[in-house]
Amino acid sequence: MSKKLRYTASVDRYKKMNYRRTGKSGLLLPEISLGLWQNFGKNDDFYNQRDLLKCAFDNGITHFDLANNYGPPPGSAEENFGKILEKDFKSYRDELIISSKAGYGMWEGPYGDLGSKKFLVASLDQSLQRMGLEYVDIFYHHRPDYDTPIEETMGTLDLMVRQGKALYIGISNYQPERAKQAFKILQDLGTPCLIHQPRYNIFDRWIENELLDLLGNSGVGAICFSPLAQGMLSNKYINGLPKDSRAVKDSPFLNTNQVLEKLPKIKKLNEIAQNRQQSLAQMAISWILKDHRITSVLIGASKIEQILDSIKAIQNTHFSEEELNNIKEIL
Ligand SMILES: NC(=O)c1ccc[n+]([C@@H]2O[C@H](COP(=O)([O-])OP(=O)(O)OC[C@H]3O[C@@H](n4cnc5c(N)ncnc54)[C@H](OP(=O)(O)O)[C@@H]3O)[C@@H](O)[C@H]2O)c1
Repeated sequence: MSKKLRYTASVDRYKKMNYRRTGKSGLLLPEISLGLWQNFGKNDDFYNQRDLLKCAFDNGITHFDLANNYGPPPGSAEENFGKILEKDFKSYRDELIISSKAGYGMWEGPYGDLGSKKFLVASLDQSLQRMGLEYVDIFYHHRPDYDTPIEETMGTLDLMVRQGKALYIGISNYQPERAKQAFKILQDLGTPCLIHQPRYNIFDRWIENELLDLLGNSGVGAICFSPLAQGMLSNKYINGLPKDSRAVKDSPFLNTNQVLEKLPKIKKLNEIAQNRQQSLAQMAISWILKDHRITSVLIGASKIEQILDSIKAIQNTHFSEEELNNIKEIL
């Protein structure tokens, strides 16, 4: 992709992706969405960032997920995204679902963290400014805050929608009981919760206990993050540890010991994927999409080849009982 020519999106982009309804809302999301948590910070190659977003959109990925603190440094992913929106995606704004979040520590002092109205209102205003947007499509409370009354946090999300700064709202990392309370309050306020964003992958199946049933029964969508367990559920670590990988780079979130510990299971899972004629990354994403309560799988990527590989997952989301049992046994 050229760095100088004006970007025009692929004309057949919508034929390359499937879209699912988000809970009981009117909003359709792509089965695969792209997150900007990693690889979009100040020191990441800006041209690569542009290529990743263009590649995603050209393949029907209409949803880009951000948060106030993505970078590093915090805020830089939104700044870079704002620049790319201005350069490449200005005429496509109405074809995009852009989300942001607040809930983790963002600035010094008592008003830069957690779930107070004071923090959330200021943080969304900052995010909008960084991205050059008038509104985000989805705004999330990023994690539960057990010290702030949940009515205050949910009331603030409702306010954002009423002010036109967010079209829909969601919650992330909430356990079932707290999520249930949030859904009730939001419903009563007249701003139903659109979506929940939990971690879910073959190695981390906590949402199967209770949360998925709750979401299905409440008409709330689910968008699952870290579907590849940050890259471990792919073939990238099978023949060694690539220097440019997240585990080897200085990531506070994934280290080589975590990868080495999981390697025997990764190799066995890779064999099942090969028998399905899929890459391990594709199988890991298909495995999530087999459940129709899940609206979208939220991937990350450092290279366009990874996006091109991962999106093929939508072509085969059926698993035989035998395959499911074999996967379970490995775990
Ligand atoms: N709500 C929350 O609290 C929360 C928390 C975490 C993430 N998220 C969201 O979820 C998004 C995705 O999280 P994640 O980055 O952990 O997702 P992930 O998809 O599990 O991991 C992405 C990493 O996997 C590797 N990869 C991706 N596709 C590959 C492929 N086809 N083959 C081989 N390797 C591949 C790349 O690693 P390398 O970089 O090593 O190449 C990439 O950076 C984030 O951007 C963010 O939007 C939300």
